[in-house]
Amino acid sequence: MKRTSIYFLLSLLTCWFLYAQEVSIIPSVSELKITSKGYWKIPSKVRVFASSESENYLSFFEREIMINKKIKYVKNEEASVVFKKNPQIPQEAYVLSISRKGLQINASTDAGFFYALQTLVQLKTFTKNSNALPYCEIYDQPAYRWRTFMLDSGRQYQNIATIKKYLDMMAMLKMNVFHWHLTEGLGWRIEIKKYPSLAIEGSKVANGPEQQGYYTQEEIKEIIEYASQRYITVVPEIDMPGHAEAALSVFPEYTCFNKPVTIPEVGFTPQIFCAGKPETINFLKDILDEVCELFPSEYIHLGGDEALKDNWDQCPDCQHVIHKQGLKDSHDLQIWFSNEMAAYLKTKGRKAIFWDDVIAKEGNIEIAENAVIHWWQYRGRKDQPLKKALSSGREILCGTNNYNYLNFPLTPWKGYKENRTFDMQDVFNHNPSRVDPSNPLVLGMSCSLWTDYVVQEYMIDRRLFPRIFIIANQMWYTGNEQSFEMMKNKIEKLKPWFENKGYEFGPGLKSEVPEGYKWD
Ligand code: ACM
Ligand code: ZN
Repeated sequence: MKRTSIYFLLSLLTCWFLYAQEVSIIPSVSELKITSKGYWKIPSKVRVFASSESENYLSFFEREIMINKKIKYVKNEEASVVFKKNPQIPQEAYVLSISRKGLQINASTDAGFFYALQTLVQLKTFTKNSNALPYCEIYDQPAYRWRTFMLDSGRQYQNIATIKKYLDMMAMLKMNVFHWHLTEGLGWRIEIKKYPSLAIEGSKVANGPEQQGYYTQEEIKEIIEYASQRYITVVPEIDMPGHAEAALSVFPEYTCFNKPVTIPEVGFTPQIFCAGKPETINFLKDILDEVCELFPSEYIHLGGDEALKDNWDQCPDCQHVIHKQGLKDSHDLQIWFSNEMAAYLKTKGRKAIFWDDVIAKEGNIEIAENAVIHWWQYRGRKDQPLKKALSSGREILCGTNNYNYLNFPLTPWKGYKENRTFDMQDVFNHNPSRVDPSNPLVLGMSCSLWTDYVVQEYMIDRRLFPRIFIIANQMWYTGNEQSFEMMKNKIEKLKPWFENKGYEFGPGLKSEVPEGYKWD
């Protein structure tokens, strides 16, 4: 080959490499190959092949990608856009090719097609007029089975539109489980038909204007449907036995001593469900009947965090169960209580998720086989819950407070002192939740937005963005190692697009927080 040809080839390769670097997709795709320089310009009339015209992902395709285009569904050979089922491709993964011939997407599941479309939406931002897609080949698959976002609608009520806004965000970030924290000391947010006062009164126990309100079962169905169109499973959390002052203020007979219950403005109190009264257990099972009726999820979150045992230690009913069941103490009683609930869920073919508090102490009994441990308390318990869950063969969901609690701000605010702050670099470098995804007991990774200290709707975005990009990338990306600088650049490039969709960004690095920045 002539020297000039070699120089030409080298400069072309460099050009393509730089060009590939410029493509900003978050979470990043596993493999991206720019096949030639140029774009497939989406024509005004597009012939599409899919297994059926009524596939759910096609409505997203028509709405978000084929804007103002005329679509005709045709046979494979005539189509310029082909959605092809290929059972060889892993669940949720996809293979995408954009060439002169058009667009070819292969996947084994509808979720895989949907994630390919999410990638395409971001690829479109690469061109100014959004009507062209760069020639490339992409292979992409998730790192973790569960990529969870948790929203605390217990302490604060959020409007349905706000919940949908975060489901949209999850879809864009290829997250697939919405963990909906629906009950708290400060509010009971889910309508239970058998006990209407639970939501009617229990949703109004706090003082703030945004702390009132609950979701009717019709509204919940609407959310489940909206999520399912985005391949997101909604896992409800009904926290028990603690964090339940709102419910217990309406039904004090289900506490140990039947005393009026005070609502904590922050934190939690020893007023928890009495585990020794059969009536309490039956009441909770009634609630689970309706929860399971509403939510198709195989997994139901039963909380179990921060349940103070002051009452259980004194209560004759609780002590009676401890002695009768040969339990060690009140902590063992929590395992017994959790197992009762998990066994009830098992009769309905469900599994129970518990915060790691339930396995924090040694007892005479083990947590149920259909129990999943949600590891959160890294600041207090480090990796003890992880080790314990794995050694006892229980599935684990990793959502450690350092650094997956996105309510922890970047600089101190209200109860969050310096040691409860973190930035993008911290989560990029030191996230303990990034455990080996190939372990079959590792269900996945979660991140959370708690609403302690009255985090109202308008304050949520700036806590999530941009740090959630780093977490979403850790949940999904399986490609070669990336540098922080590279991620930061990708985020900078995509920021205007997300802002245009209505998401407000806070600072991403501690060094970039403006003097006197207000988190409220
Ligand atoms: C928790 O943060 N209390 C689970
Ligand atoms: Zn009791």
